[in-house]
Amino acid sequence: MKTRVLFVCLGNICRSPTAEAVFRSVVERAGKSGEIDIDSAGTIAAHAGEPADARMRKHAARRGYTLTSISRRIQLSDFSTFTHIVAMDRQNLADLKAMAPPGAPAGISLLLEFDPDSPVAEVPDPYYGGAEGFETVLDLIEAASEHFFAHLTS
Ligand code: 4NP
Repeated sequence: MKTRVLFVCLGNICRSPTAEAVFRSVVERAGKSGEIDIDSAGTIAAHAGEPADARMRKHAARRGYTLTSISRRIQLSDFSTFTHIVAMDRQNLADLKAMAPPGAPAGISLLLEFDPDSPVAEVPDPYYGGAEGFETVLDLIEAASEHFFAHLTS
């Protein structure tokens, strides 16, 4: 079965679009694009149809990432379409677990649990904060993506 990864945050305009782009870059560099599908979604629909937040896109672009996702809310079928659903914070994780149909095959986890060196357990929501919040999102996601990739391919 093909590996299919869905990154999830609240609005799907800051953290999960970043995780999608950063992880895609890790997968592409390893030459595994044909083996791993990557997407992102939010637990709410408030920004559905919108591109990623302009501040998040700007900070990501400085590190060479182009955020291409269009916000969408997670849907029930995602729990059977994806093999791995990866949340950014504990609230996302709780919302996903509450929403998951019984017996759904997808494993649901927190991104930073794959990074034993991460200084924190959650990717903090940068939406209402300043520039450094977007840099923190990128720092945490870049580090954890390498570990998550190693986990998937080991
Ligand atoms: P995200 O950030 O969950 O990382 O996409 C947020 C985006 C929008 C809102 C909150 C967080 N909001 O309240 O609209």
